[in-house]
Amino acid sequence: MIVEYSPIGVVHSPFLEREGTPIQPSRSNGASGTVEVFPEFVEGLSDLDGFSHIILLCHLHRSTGWRLKVVPFLDTEPRGLFATRAPCRPNPIGLSVVNLLAVEGNVLAIENVDLLDGTPVLDIKPYVGEFDDRTNVRTGWLEAARTRRKRRADDRFSG
Ligand SMILES: C[S@@+](CC[C@H](N)C(=O)[O-])C[C@H]1O[C@@H](n2cnc3c(N)ncnc32)[C@H](O)[C@@H]1O
Repeated sequence: MIVEYSPIGVVHSPFLEREGTPIQPSRSNGASGTVEVFPEFVEGLSDLDGFSHIILLCHLHRSTGWRLKVVPFLDTEPRGLFATRAPCRPNPIGLSVVNLLAVEGNVLAIENVDLLDGTPVLDIKPYVGEFDDRTNVRTGWLEAARTRRKRRADDRFSG
C-alpha cells in the first residue's frame, strides 16, 4: 500500500542547512519561525490560539536515505533507528512540539523550532498535557546521554 499525503502548510525558519539546526525544540534556545497554513485549511485554525504549544508533524523533505542503525546526535554508540529521533527514516516524519506565540490569519508564530526552512507540514495538533504528559518515564540509552550539551546538528545525517 502506498500512502500519499499533501502538505497543509510550510515552515519558515532561520535554518537553511541540516548541519547547525537545533536537534530538538527543547535545545533550540527559543529560535523563532512561522508556519504558513495554506488557504484551504485556514478554517481549521480557529480555537488554536488558546493553546500554548502545538505538535507539528512534518515531512523531513531534505532527508537523504535511511538506515536502521544510527549513532544519534546525543550518543556515540549505534542505536536502533526506532529508538531514536534521527531524521533518516524510511518515512521521514518529524514530530516537533513548539511554542505557539500567535495565530494571525493563516500564519502561526512559533518558537523553539528545529526544522529547516521550507519543511512541509502534514498536520498540526494542540499539545495537551493531560493527553501527552507521562509519569514514570524510562528513556533507555538517553538516560546516560541526556547530560550531553549538544544543541545543534552536525553532518552525520547529511550524507
Ligand atoms: C533530530 S531531527 C528531530 C525532528 C523532530 N523534532 C523529531 O523528533 O522528529 C532534527 C534535525 O533534523 C534535521 N532536519 C530538520 N528539518 C529537516 C528537513 N526538512 N529535512 C531533513 N532534515 C531536517 C536537522 O538537522 C535537525 O537538526
